[in-house]
Amino acid sequence: MAPSLGWIGPGRSGALRAADAASPRVLVVSNRLPVTVSLHGGIVRLTPSAGGVATGLRRIHSRRWIGWSGMSAQVPPVVQREIDARLNDIATCGVALSDADITSYYTRMANSVLWPLLHDRCPETAAESADWETYRSVNARFADVVLRERSPDDLIWIHDYHLMLLPRLLRERRPDARIAFFLHSPFPRLSTLATIPWAAELVDGLLGADAVGFQTQSDLRRFARASRALAGRPSEWTAGSGLVADHDRGVRLHVTPMSVDVAAFASRADDPETRRRVLALRAGGGPLLVGIDRLDPTKGIPQRLEAFGRLLESHPELRGRARLLQLAVPSREAVPAYRRLGRHVETMVAGLNARFGTPEWKPVEYTYGSVDEQGLAALYRAADVMLVTPLRDGMNLVAKEFVASRKDESGVLVLSRRAGAANELTDAVLVDPEDLEGLMRGYVTAIAMGSAERRARMRRLRARVAAHDVHRWASQCLHAAGAADRAAHPMVS
Ligand code: F6P
Repeated sequence: MAPSLGWIGPGRSGALRAADAASPRVLVVSNRLPVTVSLHGGIVRLTPSAGGVATGLRRIHSRRWIGWSGMSAQVPPVVQREIDARLNDIATCGVALSDADITSYYTRMANSVLWPLLHDRCPETAAESADWETYRSVNARFADVVLRERSPDDLIWIHDYHLMLLPRLLRERRPDARIAFFLHSPFPRLSTLATIPWAAELVDGLLGADAVGFQTQSDLRRFARASRALAGRPSEWTAGSGLVADHDRGVRLHVTPMSVDVAAFASRADDPETRRRVLALRAGGGPLLVGIDRLDPTKGIPQRLEAFGRLLESHPELRGRARLLQLAVPSREAVPAYRRLGRHVETMVAGLNARFGTPEWKPVEYTYGSVDEQGLAALYRAADVMLVTPLRDGMNLVAKEFVASRKDESGVLVLSRRAGAANELTDAVLVDPEDLEGLMRGYVTAIAMGSAERRARMRRLRARVAAHDVHRWASQCLHAAGAADRAAHPMVS
């Protein structure tokens, strides 16, 4: 589910374009690097990382990218030197995390507490102060590495919920630094956020930035309210932007929905190898429904399967014909909720296949694993119906990758109203993922849609995504940071 590594490194084209004109030298900072390092019999291997931040941002040209390599720092010094050298060769720089850091900061604080909370779900693990302390200390370690790697004219661009304290930590040490932050996940309701004791500190952490970007207007509004209610900072907002007064500075808020590299997906969809694989995928005939997600509790995979079962139950004419191909990319396997979800999904798939399957027809093909670029392109291109039905999602780039891949102007997108992408992709069949009957009716609408309507909808979807690709997103985010003029607003004059 990820591209090859040839793109990474300084001096590549296809980069910031408009933002380059403002000449920020961009230092990207995210928890995970675009590559994940692993050791196989003493050999260091670099593979592309999965997930929205890595996949989307790897298309953006940065001077350097700082993040965690995905490996424990507890390796022999000679191996560590090789890892550092390999990362350096592709203009990335690793932040060392011990096994204890990974458990406490990444598995527990970031992914068992913050991730569900940001998605307005109740964390299943109680937040522990020890994990919060590790979260703080890891953010401080990132600050040390950023300050070591930074050149004075760099724009520091920080991503996502793992590093919410980092803007403030940097601001305290370098008041003149230019800092942008982008939150890829949703921002929660005040009542949800306030259930953890460190809510005000998280909000204050982000307010160290010059500009904070959000996926949707509702995320921005919730953050502006939380700044006022939890951190006591005056805030105001309007459609698409806002301002929070942070002492003598103004922090600019902006809504800039993330996107994908449209040209890259379009050209991959035309690749001869992709076409060959599409033919293989379509060999069964009958409507092909496709789902592609990280195996994550927010993605709504059990609901999607349940609705598919209801479809087969209530539409016998689809039995023996319709197929659901679900790819679940392994993710955060140390978090108990993810492991439980994996077992639950496998049980559901086995149940559906046992109930409806025949010797000639397997209704659900489930793969737990990753596919390469062509494999991904082939899935997008083969789908009659693409199911993107998260319970809640900051954006969901799978929806946009699907649209970008459909140069043939065919295929129907069934999209959750609770994904950020639903604000833009209004020509999808929009569904509520928790209303299982409604979800099932969404499948029926998509399968039955006539070719003229399919084409008309896909044409409009493609026009939207093409006009708002990942390069434009990056330009707008960086422009917002560059344009965050401290004295320009009456609130902070
Ligand atoms: O999209 C949210 C996110 O946490 C990203 O920050 C990350 O790229 C992706 O999910 C994958 O998650 P992880 O880094 O935990 O494997």
